[in-house]
Amino acid sequence: MGNYIRPRGTLDLFDADAQIFSYINKTASEVAKKYNYKPIYTPTFEQTSLFARSTGETSDIVTKEMYTFKDKGDREITLRPEGTAGVIRAIIENKLYAINDLPVKYYYSGSFFRYERPQVGRYREFSQFGVEIVGSNSYLDDCELILFISSLLKELKINDYVIRINTFGDLNCRNNYRDSVKEFFKPHISSLCEDCQKRFNNNPLRILDCKIDKEYLQTLSIPQTQDSLDEKNKNEFTKIKEILKDNDIPFKEDPYLVRGLDYYTGLIFEVDITLKDGKVLTIGGGGRYSCLVKELGGPDLNCVGFAVGINRIALYLKELYGKENYENKVDYYIMPFIEQATKKATAIAKILREKNYVVVVENGKRSVGSMFKYASKNNFSKAIMIGEDELKENKLKVKDLKTQEQIYVTLEDLLKGSE
Ligand code: HAM
Repeated sequence: MGNYIRPRGTLDLFDADAQIFSYINKTASEVAKKYNYKPIYTPTFEQTSLFARSTGETSDIVTKEMYTFKDKGDREITLRPEGTAGVIRAIIENKLYAINDLPVKYYYSGSFFRYERPQVGRYREFSQFGVEIVGSNSYLDDCELILFISSLLKELKINDYVIRINTFGDLNCRNNYRDSVKEFFKPHISSLCEDCQKRFNNNPLRILDCKIDKEYLQTLSIPQTQDSLDEKNKNEFTKIKEILKDNDIPFKEDPYLVRGLDYYTGLIFEVDITLKDGKVLTIGGGGRYSCLVKELGGPDLNCVGFAVGINRIALYLKELYGKENYENKVDYYIMPFIEQATKKATAIAKILREKNYVVVVENGKRSVGSMFKYASKNNFSKAIMIGEDELKENKLKVKDLKTQEQIYVTLEDLLKGSE
C-alpha cells in the first residue's frame, strides 16, 4: 500500500465496477432521450444558502450532513448534497422557463456529497441520476416520472421493485397535515428522541421518518396524509393510482412516507429493492414541489422530479447478475505473429472498430502461446492470426475461441460473414 488511502465513505471504481456504473448512466441517458428530456450540467458546489433555503433549514441534510467550507474569497460554499436545488437555481438564473416552452424537462447525473455514516449503499460521495420537470401543471407529469423510472429499471433488467407512493396534497393540505401531526404528538413529546423533540417545534413531519423512534411510532395511530386531503387532491391521487395500475407499475401506498427533503408538496414516492440478505434499499425517490422556484426568486412554477442512486443500483445489479456480466466483451483479438504483420494488424483493427466491433491488438511481445492464454483468460471471442502466409495471400486466419473452429478468409469475407 502507498502512503494514502481514500477518504472514509468514498469509493474507487474500476474494472467491472466502473463498467456497471457507466452502463447505468448510459442506459439512463438513453431512456431520458426517449422521453425527450434534455441534459443539464450544474456546478458541484453552490452557495451554502441555496441548499439551506431549498432542502430545509431543519432537515438532516442541512443540519448534519453538508460539506460546507469557506473558500479563499471568504464565501460560504457547500458541495451539493442533492441535485434539485442547483438545477432550479440554473433554470431561474438562465431564465430557461422563459426561453423554452413549458414544461421544461431536464436530466442530470454526477457526484453528490453528504456527511453520513457510511454503510452498505450509503457513502459520503455518491452518484445520482435525476430529472426535473419545471412548469408542470398536470398530475400526468407525476405519472410520467414514475413510468420513466419503470422504463429505466426495465432497461436495466430490474424487475423486482416496489414504488411506495403517498401524497401531501397541495400546500394547503400539507400545512393542515403538518398541524394535525403536531397536535397529535403534543402528549408524546417526552417519549420522543432528542432530535424529534426539536423537530416537534420546527419540522414535525420529520418525526415520521425518524429511525430512532421507529418502533415507538409503530405503536401509535398517527394521522395519515389522506385525512388532510380535500376532494380535488383526493381525486387527483386516485387518478394517478389508476394510471399506475393501467401500466402495471408495482406500487403500494405508504401513508406515512414523508421523504427527507422539505420542499415536497403533492405526490411523493420512493423506489425499494430487497438485497439477498433481506436488507431493503431505497434506490430512488422524488415528488412534486410547488414552492421552490418562487422561494429561490423565480416565478410561480410547479415542478416534479426524482433521483436514483447509481451506486445502489450498481450494488443490486452486481448481486442479480454478477459483475463479470458487465465487463466489456472483446469481439476480436488480433495477433500479428511476425513483425511485418503489425501494420496490417493496426489497419484491420481500425476497419473493425469502425464497424463497431471491440478489438484488441497484440502490441506487445507475447509469444504465440501466451497470446492464446491471455485471450482465454480474458474471454475474447475470436482471434485473428496474421503470419507470413496470411500476408502473402492477403487473407486472415480467424479462430472462434469458444468453438475452436477456424476459417481462412479475406477481410471482405469476414466482414460480410459477420454482418
Ligand atoms: P434523495 O431521496 O435524497 O432525493 O436521494 C435520491 C437517491 O439517492 C436515494 O434514493 C438513494 O438511492 C441515493 N442516495 C442518497 N443519499 C445517498 C448516500 N449517502 N449514498 C448513496 N446513495 C444515496 C433527492 O436527492 C432529491 N433531489 C430527488 C428529487 C429530484 N426530488 C425532486 N426532484
